[in-house]
Amino acid sequence: MKKLIIGNWKLNPVSLKEAVKLTSLIEKTKKNTVVLCPPHVFLSSVKYPNLGAQDCFWEEKGAFTGQVSPLQLKNFKIKYVLVGHSERRFAGDDDHMVNAKIRLALANNIVPVLCVGYKTTVLQDDMEVTDIIKNQLDLGLAGLEAEKVVVAYEPVWAIGSGKTATPDHTEKIALFIKNRYGVEKVLYGGSVNPSNAQGFLAQRNVDGLLVGGASLVPSYFNKIINL
Ligand code: PGA
Repeated sequence: MKKLIIGNWKLNPVSLKEAVKLTSLIEKTKKNTVVLCPPHVFLSSVKYPNLGAQDCFWEEKGAFTGQVSPLQLKNFKIKYVLVGHSERRFAGDDDHMVNAKIRLALANNIVPVLCVGYKTTVLQDDMEVTDIIKNQLDLGLAGLEAEKVVVAYEPVWAIGSGKTATPDHTEKIALFIKNRYGVEKVLYGGSVNPSNAQGFLAQRNVDGLLVGGASLVPSYFNKIINL
């Protein structure tokens, strides 16, 4: 079964030249479905089979300075959009905003990737973490067709830290999310690299990965997407 592997470039790189170069170095593998999420400013210039955006707004158009809407993304043939990433939640996005963004992404036939795991701590053992992500999922998915939403479980302490959740724990969380909400695809994110990726991909209910730092290093990302 193909897995879904998403590269989140965050606020990188700084020039279009570098973005085009980076894209050209990422293999177009058939082993997995691979999505690149460059910053919005590069979305119309980089060429890759599947592109995603790192965020979107909850209105299609109007007086909303600085925002980018799912309708605009659709016109650039963007297929996926990250919503509720912990770095967006730090910047002020709440669960109601996340819900509204997902709703509009779905209305525009863009697959929303709902990121949960904000406010988790490494001290929470196993299923205790569900108390925190339950809230994010209850509100984030409220009134929506959950089966059309991809969920990325990203414990916030694992992002960019070199620490990861364990594959076993992630499998349990993925199963919990699927059983409780009817979500069909759950990804893991947080310090994924070529050495630890296989452990997550081997889990039956982990349908792929959301990769930050390692997606900026072509030799690392190419290894991960070909697993
Ligand atoms: P990381 O980021 O792989 O650099 O930890 C993951 C993410 O923020 O989606």
